Amino acid sequence: MNQVTASAPGKLMLLGEHAVVYGCPCIVTAVDLRVKVTIEFINNNEIIINSPNSVRNITLSELQQPHKYPRDTAFVEAAVENFFSSNNVRSGLNIKTEGPKTSYGLGSSSAVTAATIESLSKLFGLNLPKKQVFEQSYAAVLAVQGKGSGFDVASAIYGGTIYYKNGGEIIEEMEPIKLPIIIGYTGEKVSTINLIDHVAHLRSKHRTIIDGVFSVITETVNSAKLKLLNREWEDFGELININQGLLDSLGVNTEKIAKLIWSARSSGAFGAKISGAGGGDCIYVVIDPNKEKGIEESLKSAGAFLVPFSTNADGVRIEV
Ligand code: PMV
Repeated sequence: MNQVTASAPGKLMLLGEHAVVYGCPCIVTAVDLRVKVTIEFINNNEIIINSPNSVRNITLSELQQPHKYPRDTAFVEAAVENFFSSNNVRSGLNIKTEGPKTSYGLGSSSAVTAATIESLSKLFGLNLPKKQVFEQSYAAVLAVQGKGSGFDVASAIYGGTIYYKNGGEIIEEMEPIKLPIIIGYTGEKVSTINLIDHVAHLRSKHRTIIDGVFSVITETVNSAKLKLLNREWEDFGELININQGLLDSLGVNTEKIAKLIWSARSSGAFGAKISGAGGGDCIYVVIDPNKEKGIEESLKSAGAFLVPFSTNADGVRIEV
């Protein structure tokens, strides 16, 4: 095989963000915002990465030395580097990445990393099991951004809806139940790393309190998991509202997010909360199906862009 294409989905964090960085569980569903990576062998000692915004050339020997990652191609480059060293292989490669123009903070970095490792695994004939694709992808993400729980990487690889804990110590694939939700984008981009640092700072000052918040978040995650499996959406909505209050206490809410959340709740949604680090990006709303149109209208008039992707998407896969 001389050329392989793999694709991987984005993710929507349902509950457990921030606490998951400290070893607590979270629930995440994959969204059908797919990123594609095509890789072929070439005969010179170079890695060429063609991303929609730039082209990067790096020789195999430069790749082995400590170097800075360019912003546009950082995750692909780190994935190749990690794949080579983990599996003791090497080759010149031509790589092309494709994805949606806007990713709404729904996990395009983890998706491109997972799709790169999966393509390489197939191209080199290794056919790595999912857990190894996860470990090598997570290591690459950490090489670029230094922190993160890895929940987004697991979601890109396993797809569906998963219960996740501790750097992949638990990756439980849940029954793929259709979620009655709407995703709203705030239009504001944020740095996840800054928000992780903000929570770390708060915890360094008020450790017992913040650890208490994390332990209540864990209760909401575990209760919401059962409600989800039983399709008890009203109760699930109540639990995400509680979780939202806890995220607010961590200082990751914003006026815009609060406005969108309240517009949905006031039009009869069962619940609404931040998805992910907060500070902007996306919220999601658990709807009463009878009130869907009204909820959509009020979200739009409060300034949300409704993100049209379905949930429970397939994990990373080879495209033919
Ligand atoms: O902002 P997102 O969607 O990348 O989510 C970040 C979630 C955190 O728990 C804050 C960080 C992490 O890596 O788990």
